[in-house]
Amino acid sequence: MYRRPLAFLNSLPAHGDLVEIRLGPQRAWMVCHPELAHEVLMDPHTFDKGGPLYDRLGKLMGDGLVTCRQSTHRDKRRLLQPGFRPSHVAAYTDLVTEEAEAVCEGWRTGRTVPVTEAMMTFTTRTISRVLLSDSLDDPTTAQVRDCLADVVRGLFVRTVVPIDALFRLPTPANRRYRNALSRLHAIIDTVIARRRRGPDRDDVLGTLLAAAHGDGDGPPITDQEIHDHLITLLLTGAETTALCLAAAFDLLARHPAAERRLHAELDTVLADGRRPGPDDLPHLVRTRCVVSETLRHSSPGWLFTRVATRETELAGRRLPAGATVLYSPYLLHHDPASFPDPERFDPDRWLPGRPTAEQRRATMPFSVGNRKCLGDEFAMVEATLALATIAAHLRLRHLPGHTPRPPRPAITLGPRSLVMTCEARSRMPSPHPAGTPRAAHSGTAGDHVVDDA
Ligand code: HEM
Repeated sequence: MYRRPLAFLNSLPAHGDLVEIRLGPQRAWMVCHPELAHEVLMDPHTFDKGGPLYDRLGKLMGDGLVTCRQSTHRDKRRLLQPGFRPSHVAAYTDLVTEEAEAVCEGWRTGRTVPVTEAMMTFTTRTISRVLLSDSLDDPTTAQVRDCLADVVRGLFVRTVVPIDALFRLPTPANRRYRNALSRLHAIIDTVIARRRRGPDRDDVLGTLLAAAHGDGDGPPITDQEIHDHLITLLLTGAETTALCLAAAFDLLARHPAAERRLHAELDTVLADGRRPGPDDLPHLVRTRCVVSETLRHSSPGWLFTRVATRETELAGRRLPAGATVLYSPYLLHHDPASFPDPERFDPDRWLPGRPTAEQRRATMPFSVGNRKCLGDEFAMVEATLALATIAAHLRLRHLPGHTPRPPRPAITLGPRSLVMTCEARSRMPSPHPAGTPRAAHSGTAGDHVVDDA
C-alpha cells in the first residue's frame, strides 16, 4: 500500500467485494464494488467519518466540514452550502478565467513551464478570492500554496503508516511538515484578525463572521470553527482541482486525437478568441468530457476512510464497532468490470448518452451521499473554464525524453511536479469541425455526467 498503492488497489477486486487489508498494525476493510461503496456512503450514521485518514486530517483541519462527525455535520453544511450553490458558482466565472489567464501570461512557444505549480497557484488564488476576497497578497498566496504541498505530502505517509513515534523524530521531512502546518494556521489567524478590524465583505469569511455574531440560521459558531472552516476549504479547494488540471494536460499531451477534438471544440465555441463565460459552459461538451475522464482516470481524491460506529454487517461479513472501512474512487474507476480498458484515457466515454447507468453509479470522484464534495459544482466549472482558457491558445508538450511514470499518490493523486513546454497554437480553419458534438441539453454549470453519478 505504501510503495505501490495503485497496483495494490487494482489487485484487490480479484479477492472479493470486501477485502481485509492491513495499514501498519491496523486491520481495515476495502470496499471493491460500486454497490457496496454506495451502501457505505449512503449510511453515514453507521459508517461515519473516522479511521486513520480522518484522524490525521482532524489534526490539521480541526472540526471542519471534511473531518467532522455526523452529529455536527448538518449545521456546518447548511452554513457553507449557499456559497457553493450553482447560482453562486456562475458568479465566479469571471474570477476563474481572469486567474487562469494570469497564470499562463507569458507562456510562449518554446518556454518550459512548471504546470503543476502554475495550476496550484491558479487554484489557490481562485479559492482564496472566493473565501477571503483580496485578503491574501501574492507572496502570502504563494506561501499558502507551498505549505499546502508540504502538508499533503506528509499526510499520506502518516495515514498508511499510522505510527506516531516515527513522526516525532527530528527529520527534515517531519520538520518541513510541522513548519508548513504552523505557517498555515498563522496565516489564517492573521487574515481573520485583520478582517475583524476592517469593513465587512460578501465572501465566505463574511458569512462565517456573521454566523459568529449569531446572524446565521444555525447556532453561533466559535472562533475556532471559523479557523477550521477556512483551513478546510483552502486545503480541499486548491490541491484537488490543481492536480485534476495538471493530469488533464499530461493526458492530453499523450493522446493527440483527444487533444485535437478538444481544440476543434474550443475553436468553434470560442471562435472570436474571447474568454469563456457562463453561457459557454453548456457548449463546452468535449472540454467537460476531458475533465470528467481525467477525474475517472486520475481521480485526485483516490482513497478515503470511514469508521463503523457499531457492530454491523457488510457484504455478509461481521464488522466490529470501530472497524476501519476504506473506499477508493481510483479502484472503482479502474475496475474493468465497470470500465472496459480502464487505463485508456478516452474522454468520449462521457459524451451525452454514452455512459451506462452502471458506469454512472461506479463513478464517484466527488463521492456520493450527504458527505459528497461541497465544491463539486465549483470544481467542475473551475476546471472546465481553466482548461478552455489555456487550451484555446496553447498546446502543452512533454519535454524531450519524458517517460510517463505512475503518479506517486500522497493524500491526493496526480502529477505533483509536471514540467512541460509551450507551443502556441493556431485556430483550426473550419468553423464547424466534424466531430464536435452538440450539447444534448442546455445544462447548468454543474450539469456533468461524472457529478451526476
Ligand atoms: C476536482 C476537484 C475535487 C475533487 C476530486 C474533490 C473530491 C472530494 C471527495 C471525494 C470528497 C468526499 C470525501 C469522503 O468521502 O471522505 C470531498 C469532500 C469535500 N470537498 Fe471536495 N473535491 C474537489 C474540489 C473541492 C473544492 C474546490 C472544494 C472547495 C469548496 C471542496 C470542498 C470539499 C468539502 C468541504 C468536502 C466535505 C463535504 C462534507 O463532508 O459535507 N472540494 N471532495
